[in-house]
Amino acid sequence: MRMNRDLRRDYLQAIGIESWVRRGAPGAQAEVIAHVPPRAVPEGPERESGVDWPELESRVAACTRCALHATRTQAVFGVGSRAAQWLVVGEAPGAEEDARGEPFVGRAGQLLNSMLRAVGLRREEVYIANVLKCRPPGNRDPSPFEAAECLPYLEQQIALLKPRILLAVGRIAAQNLLRTESPLGRLRLHVHHFGRSQVPLIATYHPAYLLRTPADKRKAWEDLKFAREVCARV
Ligand code: URA
Repeated sequence: MRMNRDLRRDYLQAIGIESWVRRGAPGAQAEVIAHVPPRAVPEGPERESGVDWPELESRVAACTRCALHATRTQAVFGVGSRAAQWLVVGEAPGAEEDARGEPFVGRAGQLLNSMLRAVGLRREEVYIANVLKCRPPGNRDPSPFEAAECLPYLEQQIALLKPRILLAVGRIAAQNLLRTESPLGRLRLHVHHFGRSQVPLIATYHPAYLLRTPADKRKAWEDLKFAREVCARV
């Protein structure tokens, strides 16, 4: 989707970037993009679960696989277009998300919306979900057990959605999806692939981190442009 110049400038200002310079074709990014393989298995075996959206949503709402069900207000399934090309994956619901039942509705969510708008995407046209569907008390990091128990739900969401690209926001999301302990700085600006469907995955900073560290917003902007270019090539 193309944006006119004024709109893009407004959104870049919203995420704290005054101006940007388009890179020429040669360079590291162009090389990485050139290595994007075609989607190897477009209809992955994830579909074998045969579950549809309403069934999956009610399974998540009733889930008791880990102890987080005891402290949640409600499970936070996900939100957005079920025809989306982009799936944005965060870490876990926070207090506001737990109360409202929707991911990324707090200040971090507003920044996420601005980041998406900067690459021409409205919140309503992407799909947004988390690695964990339930809030960890005190917003602590997900435990490995909680992530392992919850990831099949995200895998089923991916099987139903069949996104062209996955944007992992934050270290926790990226490390859990890629099953790695590599720092985010090493994961960003590379094309990874997730799961059996091998959907391309790009990692970027979490908007809550960017609120604390605005100097890194420029890097997040680079990541989103990179993701947009990868998405256009698959
Ligand atoms: N942070 C996340 O990772 N996910 C949310 O839904 C909200 C904040």
